[in-house]
Amino acid sequence: MTTNIDELETQLFAQLESANDEQALEDLRVNALGKKGSVSELLKGLGGMSPEQRQEFGPKVNGLKTKLNDLINAKKNNLQEAALEARLLSERIDVTLPATPRRAGSIHPIMQVFEEVSTIFADMGFAVKEGPDIEDDFHNFTALNFPEKHPARDMHDTFFMQPSEDGTRKLLRTHTSPVQIRTMTSEKPPIRIVAPGRTYRCDFDQTHTPMFHQIEGLVIEEGVHMGHLKGVLMEFLARFFEVEEAAVRFRPHHFPFTEPSAEVDVRCDRSGKELKIGTGNDWLEILGCGMVHPNVLRACGIDPDVYQGFAFGLGIDRLAMLKYGIPDLRNMFESDVRWLEHFGFEAFFAPSITSGLSR
Ligand code: PHE
Repeated sequence: MTTNIDELETQLFAQLESANDEQALEDLRVNALGKKGSVSELLKGLGGMSPEQRQEFGPKVNGLKTKLNDLINAKKNNLQEAALEARLLSERIDVTLPATPRRAGSIHPIMQVFEEVSTIFADMGFAVKEGPDIEDDFHNFTALNFPEKHPARDMHDTFFMQPSEDGTRKLLRTHTSPVQIRTMTSEKPPIRIVAPGRTYRCDFDQTHTPMFHQIEGLVIEEGVHMGHLKGVLMEFLARFFEVEEAAVRFRPHHFPFTEPSAEVDVRCDRSGKELKIGTGNDWLEILGCGMVHPNVLRACGIDPDVYQGFAFGLGIDRLAMLKYGIPDLRNMFESDVRWLEHFGFEAFFAPSITSGLSR
């Protein structure tokens, strides 16, 4: 009996040794400790033994049972842990790997700059107005004090539509100034608006495209003078170009709808590689402006002896080129995805509206 037990033990431990997966261990457990297992059979045999024999073999068989059971469980645990370890290793995520790129659209620099400019003026109490791209002669020229048949009309290289039956011709607006007229004929002063939008002239080179963008400003209030105009423009330019102060220079100019009229230059520095706004000894032409001409006020039914006002017109495309270092205007409207990805702005993550987040 003793040899029986010893042999069985040797045999079972050898099997345990070579059982390398959970199934083999389970088979071993059933074969040894299951209902009809070899160790269970020995245990059953104890019943038919004399008390002395039972005293001798009982502890041995029970000891074997417990030991085998413990060893099988321990080995099972080890196998499970090793399997888990292997899985963790193989399924490890390398967070330093580059993410799968997600193609997203971008905000065009023109739209970004419209947003920035409108926001700055909105902060100064200006409302945002829009007008139609297809205008008539009255709003684009006549009410703005362009004399009939005057060469000033040619200076805009206008795109005209086919004449209609009554002989009048619609046109693509050559500037955003018609929105001045549309506002003054529909609202009573005080008026304080900016009007962003598309404008059209027959022109095409590195800094001109047939379609371009302007933002118009108009203020009509009692007692408004050029000092207000200058203050508003300086405040705007400093905020737009994100500088402490933007000194400006007013050069006399001529626009039919303002008197006096001026072109405004902003202080800049061209000595380095990059153009810097706000410092330096150079000047950069940036916009046209002036005090609204009494004839324009009259054409809109506003008494020029009571109300004064100023107006200004800014080229948005030029502002975008200056602020974001865009060399050629024509690329802006070619819809080249590579260009848009380079110069476009992140749609939803702009940290502030006045200075967008580049992609
Ligand atoms: N409308 C003018 C232009 O396009 C700009 C301008 C606007 C000038 C308002 C003076 C006042 O050239």
